[in-house]
Amino acid sequence: MPKPLPDPMTLPARRGCPFDPPEEYARLRAERPMSRLRLPGGRIGWLVTRYEDVRAALADPRTSPPLIQVTPATELPLPEEELDVPPGVFSALDPPEQSRYRRQVSRYFTRKRCREITPRLEQIIDEQLTGMIEHGSPADLVEWFAQPIPTRVITEMLGISEKERPDYQRWILAMLSLDTAEEPLREARDGLYGGLAELVRDRRVRPRDDILSDLLHGAGSLTDEEVVGIGALLLIAGLETTANMLGLGAFALLQHPGQLAALRADESLWDTAVEELLRYLTIVQFGLTRTAREDLEVAGQTVRAGETLIVSLASANRDSAFYTAPDRLDLSRDEAPHLAFGHGVHQCLGAQLARFEMKLAFRALLRRLPGLRLAVPPERVPTAGEDKVFHGVHSLPVAW
Ligand code: HEM
Repeated sequence: MPKPLPDPMTLPARRGCPFDPPEEYARLRAERPMSRLRLPGGRIGWLVTRYEDVRAALADPRTSPPLIQVTPATELPLPEEELDVPPGVFSALDPPEQSRYRRQVSRYFTRKRCREITPRLEQIIDEQLTGMIEHGSPADLVEWFAQPIPTRVITEMLGISEKERPDYQRWILAMLSLDTAEEPLREARDGLYGGLAELVRDRRVRPRDDILSDLLHGAGSLTDEEVVGIGALLLIAGLETTANMLGLGAFALLQHPGQLAALRADESLWDTAVEELLRYLTIVQFGLTRTAREDLEVAGQTVRAGETLIVSLASANRDSAFYTAPDRLDLSRDEAPHLAFGHGVHQCLGAQLARFEMKLAFRALLRRLPGLRLAVPPERVPTAGEDKVFHGVHSLPVAW
């Protein structure tokens, strides 16, 4: 007899395999899809684990995204700090405020725009791969490929110079690591917001061809503070996410040689392959946080106004009610749309850009390095466990 599930439970954290979410999720979906959850700060909330309930909770206009990120160990920022939402950070706002901001920026992230910037994306990818090849085998794929590609793309779109780029990268990494102490965390936040404020002051008087200048001088009449907030959001949301998908995705491909061979043989598989990697790896590993603004029902349970819901994308994406053999990586899978980019009004704004970056980068990697392989046994690849908001690998030693 398996032990009864604890009630309330704590957020599942331990993974058996670097690619699979914690095992408890399968049991929760089968036995108790809506579970009472003890949050790290002591409050009791809810954990939602089935695909259809996750979708319903995220689409429900009575739920709001708070400015906190819940992980097994922490609530960031801690509830007692209750930060006000900085102007422009629309990921933590409800419509119509959220939609007003989102409308201003969505045009930079459409499929059409991604197609227009494809030559530049390819150039960045090519330069990074050339750098790695010149460095020689073995090399760390995270250092040469997974981190720099999305970092260069989003900083360039915002108009951040090459010289300032490492500072922004360091600040974002510190903000998304759960073991960053209070003082360095404050420094990182101040660095990010201070750096952007300086840039925005400059673009107000000397506009250039970048998103910040466009937002300042466009029809939206945004204030400097709002543009700083939007810039911070785009950096926080667009850099580490894609970087982790590139690093962990390359690891997953190298660990599935049959799938990798099929992909090399038939490049038309790339579109489904990118979606399947997003589903299978679901790097937003601890789920999305929502607060109920009114009483509502999820999976037959009443959620009271003010209660917190943790909506598990990783669990939903492995729901056998929607996917055949959900724990298998199948790069030709064409089933229910995955929820790795969330769902509803806050669904990822940069999804198209992330898809373009992944497809172009992985394809170039495999074309240029046909003999690519891991340079260490797979168990020696350091994966980000409970120490990072997004799942991924800290480094990926490869040879060719
Ligand atoms: C593979 C990479 C990525 C993944 C897995 C990912 C995942 C997500 C998820 C799950 C959400 C929903 C959050 C919520 O509902 O609370 C989200 C929102 C968002 N993402 Fe992404 N993202 C990725 C890449 C990007 C990129 C490249 C950008 C571009 C700058 C970006 C910008 C945003 C923004 C601005 C939001 C907030 C949207 C809103 O609240 O209206 N993301 N992302």
